[in-house]
Amino acid sequence: MKETIRVAITGAGGQIASALLPHLLSGEVFGKERRIALHLLEMPRGMKRLEGTVMELEDSAFPLLESTVIGDDPRAIFNGVHWVIFLAGKPRTKGMQRSDLLKVNGDIAKEHGKALVKAAQDVRILVVANPANTNCLIASTAAGEIPVERFAAMTSLDETRARAQLAKKAGLSAEEAHRVTNVAIWGNHSPTMHPDASHARIDGELVSGMIDTGWLRGEFVELVQERGKRVIDTSGHSSALSAAKAIADHIKHIITPTPDGEWFSAGILSDGSYGIPKDVVFSFPLVSDSKGNCRIVQGIVQDAFTKERLRATLDELLEEKKEAEALGLLSD
Ligand code: LMR
Repeated sequence: MKETIRVAITGAGGQIASALLPHLLSGEVFGKERRIALHLLEMPRGMKRLEGTVMELEDSAFPLLESTVIGDDPRAIFNGVHWVIFLAGKPRTKGMQRSDLLKVNGDIAKEHGKALVKAAQDVRILVVANPANTNCLIASTAAGEIPVERFAAMTSLDETRARAQLAKKAGLSAEEAHRVTNVAIWGNHSPTMHPDASHARIDGELVSGMIDTGWLRGEFVELVQERGKRVIDTSGHSSALSAAKAIADHIKHIITPTPDGEWFSAGILSDGSYGIPKDVVFSFPLVSDSKGNCRIVQGIVQDAFTKERLRATLDELLEEKKEAEALGLLSD
């Protein structure tokens, strides 16, 4: 057995966490040679629910589960952890935008960012709670010492949504969506996000040669941007099953080398690439070297339509950042 991986999950009593645990404990994410120590954080009012989850973990007897600690003190829970999945926060409900959650979830992101001081030296943080990009900026600012490269906001769910829609349109089943590569998710995890299929491929062939451009720029973009809302409108609650799968995908993207010529997307602090200012967490196409070192794919050709969409999503992120500043979420 290799070294145990310590994984912290905040908001661990919630639906996404329950759906995530089997992915982590089956060996699908970190491999069957690694045992997992779970560090589960919940607020006092959610603790009973979390205790129920822990009972179910026991009943499931996952062979790779080494230990489970639960608690409501983020500093204690984050002690020594290698991965932290930020799920804690109020989920969006009908009629809300993700950015409506900034005040309440931004406070949590700030508190949890500060509490990362005793995490493992190579800790990685994935922010899922909305508004994910700005929460990621808030958490990384509050964390101070931890290099910003360790933080990401999740857009892998948008990526799998985009791949599923492209697969369907091309006459494949959703299960064959893995044959779709090189979709790029640019910007904010919000309705301004730009799912860009202009370089997407199915079995190596450009989808732009198979699917009508009008659909790729219209209905497809809207379908991906609004999918989270449609799930809420339909089921009454925000995505859990697919969000959990996307978290597993994100971690795998980071810890395995990206296949040559391909990429995946996540929100990271901009380094100025593609004219995006340095101070926002923006989703870019990335490649990983498998040690967790990610770099933004350079040289992707963007047409006028894509550039215009990038501007719109950047403007929204700058607005969110301004609001976060006004709320004191980006200062001590
Ligand atoms: C999603 O994309 O499903 C989540 O971010 C939840 C939401 O508010 O849409």
